[in-house]
Amino acid sequence: MYEVYGVIGYPVGHSLSPLMHNLAFRELMLKAVYGAFEVKPKDLEVAIKGVKALNIKGLSVTVPHKEEVIKFLDEVEDKALEIGAVNTILNEEGKLKGFNTDWIGFLKALEEEGIEVKNKKVVILGAGGASKAVVYAVKMAQACEIEIFNRTYEKALELAQKFGIKAKPWEDLKEAFGDLIIQTTSVGLNSWESPVEEEVLTRFKVAFDLVYTPLKTKFLSLAEKVGCVAIDGLKMLLYQGVEQLKIWTKKELPLNLINLIKETLYKEVSQR
Ligand code: ATR
Repeated sequence: MYEVYGVIGYPVGHSLSPLMHNLAFRELMLKAVYGAFEVKPKDLEVAIKGVKALNIKGLSVTVPHKEEVIKFLDEVEDKALEIGAVNTILNEEGKLKGFNTDWIGFLKALEEEGIEVKNKKVVILGAGGASKAVVYAVKMAQACEIEIFNRTYEKALELAQKFGIKAKPWEDLKEAFGDLIIQTTSVGLNSWESPVEEEVLTRFKVAFDLVYTPLKTKFLSLAEKVGCVAIDGLKMLLYQGVEQLKIWTKKELPLNLINLIKETLYKEVSQR
């Protein structure tokens, strides 16, 4: 019998997770399939009940359900609770357990580029769902200073208080400086816009954009132009997925498989 996995989100049509996970299942010769389930926010609770009823073995959880889903799970790991978001569910004999692999995916993407966060000053743009895992990750990696800029200042303040970091008004972004700048807003998603001017990027060494459509955003193009190391969001997507596969299969993934998934993802996004 084939095991069933999937992603829940709204919308979910453009998700790259089915491509990634079905490739992995096939290469690992597992009898498992992975689908995409579009779940409206109002249907989240019944959808999660359905996971148990249908014995779906695992789920990826994406926007806008990562926070809301927590209350419908049987168990949630401490790290995901601290972040306040679950992106992975494991169905273990009818018990649904929640995890967060976004923060690990983010750190692995940096590690792959040889970037150290320890004792670095990090500036984070955005205070939405994606930002939380990034704040948690850079805290875990022992950044010496973390500043968060958000268009709606109150949301930056809320995150800053939760994690013990500094909130800054969006208008002050012009004066931002540090070692790493991380773009977690939706600015530049399918559009040619950057939340910061080129001049700001000259004050950083590394620029990371969580957006990966387009792969090279305006933010990353400007960053490259002024000599920053530029990291795109597809690497984070890859490594959060690799961590999900580890949770579901309870196995490490061979490096050649990780590389195959990476190649496949880049090819897919560049053709879109
Ligand atoms: P996600 O889960 O992808 O982070 P989200 O929770 O909706 O999505 O958050 C989107 C982020 O992009 C927020 O930080 C949002 O700022 P606000 O809190 O002020 O809404 C930010 N954002 C969206 N459009 C923006 C824009 N035009 N300029 C600046 N920030 C923007």
